[in-house]
Amino acid sequence: MHIQANHSLQPYNTFNIDVKSQYYIEINKQSDILTLRSDLKIASLPWRIIGDGSNILFTHDLEGVTVRCTYDKIKVVKEDNENVWISVGAGMKWHDLVTYTVENNWWGLENLALIPGTVGAAPVQNIGAYGSEARDTITRVQTLNIYDGQRIEFRNAECNFGYRTSLFKQEFVNKLLVHRVTFRLRKLQYGNANLVYEPLKLALQDIPKPEYTPKMVYDAVIDIRQKKLPDPKRQGNAGSFFKNPIIDVDYFETLKKEYPDIPHHKTLEGQYKIPAAWLIENTGWKGRSHGKSAVSAKHALVLVNLGGAKGTDIEELYQLVQEDVNHKFGIYLEPEVIVL
Ligand code: EPU
Repeated sequence: MHIQANHSLQPYNTFNIDVKSQYYIEINKQSDILTLRSDLKIASLPWRIIGDGSNILFTHDLEGVTVRCTYDKIKVVKEDNENVWISVGAGMKWHDLVTYTVENNWWGLENLALIPGTVGAAPVQNIGAYGSEARDTITRVQTLNIYDGQRIEFRNAECNFGYRTSLFKQEFVNKLLVHRVTFRLRKLQYGNANLVYEPLKLALQDIPKPEYTPKMVYDAVIDIRQKKLPDPKRQGNAGSFFKNPIIDVDYFETLKKEYPDIPHHKTLEGQYKIPAAWLIENTGWKGRSHGKSAVSAKHALVLVNLGGAKGTDIEELYQLVQEDVNHKFGIYLEPEVIVL
């Protein structure tokens, strides 16, 4: 375990922003925390936890200690005729895990292919795409308390999962380091594909249902994502920058009178979720740049680094977008990305 001083976080954020952390440390096991806590200087500073930085916007150099979990082992912990339970180290790349499960013909993670980030971030954010969320398959989350190294385990129902959030993003943020995550996956072949997302159903419509495999869904998701979303390797970005706002029925009716085509999705609670991408596109921001940052021309919900942008450039851009959407539609867009 190395303690690196004044360390650039550029390799650890998908916006590709060059900021420095006063200290940067990779943690693999429980005893690493105890060793670090015995260093009085390190112990006295504030600690923050990051994953692959695929949901963070760094706007300035950071004081204190930045830690990342690098434990990335994967093991089968239990199996029966229908299910398999796997425990996965938080430091593993999410897409590598999805690929591994699909190669084993296990159902459950295939809709979440190509999401950037680590396994540890999956429960923190309750990552989701194409009708699936991490909470659908997570059974347990094993964490380490970063103050004393104590192990604390949470069952799914204890994680307070919500839309792009959980306990680990709220009261336990920068207190508990996710160390291992257990997933329950299905081995049964037939009838398990989750095709509630219309474009995914269309992509597979020529294949008879009994022949579906997780790999087919996985390939279709990869294809859709590659067509729709900018590649973070080519244009630094953090996926959706804002959450899709949820408005109540009265306000929805008011907006619908003025914008009859407004896309919407009724939630279980009877409210309306409006695609932020549509709101942004309809204020004229899609494809527009601001200095070295821009709203992606491919998808209006994604802000991109055109090369050499500072975190503050992207911060200014997102605030301009927020203002215009608020002005035109009376809706406040809340960032999904964590701004530090
Ligand atoms: N749309 C536009 N302009 C655009 C793009 C989309 O008007 O440039 C409208 C269209 O009406 C479209 C609707 O927005 O039907 C929804 O777009 P999309 O299906 O791409 O989904 P999204 O709501 O923008 C959410 C997640 C994504 C996830 C997709 C697919 C959030 C904040 N984002 O995006 O997650 O991949 O659904 O399930 O919930 C992420 O969280 O980083 C992320 C990429």
